[in-house]
Amino acid sequence: MPRATPTYIDTHAHLNHPRFKRDRPAVLRRASDAGVGAIVVVGYDPPSSREALDLAEQHEHLWATVGLHPHDAKDAAEAALTSLRNMAAHPKTIAVGETGLDYYRNLSPPDQQQQAFRRLIRLARDLGLPLIIHNREADEDALRLLQEERAEEIGGVFHCFSGDVDFARRVLDFGFLLGIDGPITYPPQRGTKSELARVVEQVPLEALLIETDCPWLAPQPHRGKRNEPAYVVEVAREIGRLRGVPVERVGEVTSAAARRLFPRLKPPGEKRG
Ligand code: NI
Repeated sequence: MPRATPTYIDTHAHLNHPRFKRDRPAVLRRASDAGVGAIVVVGYDPPSSREALDLAEQHEHLWATVGLHPHDAKDAAEAALTSLRNMAAHPKTIAVGETGLDYYRNLSPPDQQQQAFRRLIRLARDLGLPLIIHNREADEDALRLLQEERAEEIGGVFHCFSGDVDFARRVLDFGFLLGIDGPITYPPQRGTKSELARVVEQVPLEALLIETDCPWLAPQPHRGKRNEPAYVVEVAREIGRLRGVPVERVGEVTSAAARRLFPRLKPPGEKRG
């Protein structure tokens, strides 16, 4: 039997962002040409979550998540949470997020971020959906809240992972995965190996998901420009280089991991039930 074409899944793309408004069809075409067979469009507030769902309804290989970024936690009004809950029930919604804590920019006060984070974890648990976590300089609180809210029962991913090897192991022990993005391709400073490279080398390959977080964080050859799902292959290539495995193998293993975490995400070409 002929082997299926190697495919990659961009598990974190903001194709709902205004920067894709003008040329989204061309962006989608380049992704398909690059072997990106499925794309998870991630919401960060109610309107962007709605837009993610609209895109997922229009394209068979696009999937949506509904979330509220910690920057907007101060706007976590009852109406916003109700609308997220309604959208989360849609069959093409595969996760709740992004949600989490961001103590680096602190655009919402930490107590309000924690409150909103807890509510989104509970929403995910109610619906049996996994979580997409945004964590910046909040390692201890993020993991503690997930533990207190028993999020290990639904699973999830620490998107755009930037912690050290020790924290990576604690995340994996908790049963969550690590999302790896463009920064893995950036040359390390002063020739020393980056902590992120150490993480990628030392954890099981099955623990990794590949993401772009586009339009941000374009990988090295495109650094500084708008990122897009086709470039997720550059992330896979660097993971493969660090671990000494072919890029296609990284695609296979990370795609399988994505489908385990997001059971609603069907392989490309498979009919939706
Ligand atoms: Ni994001």
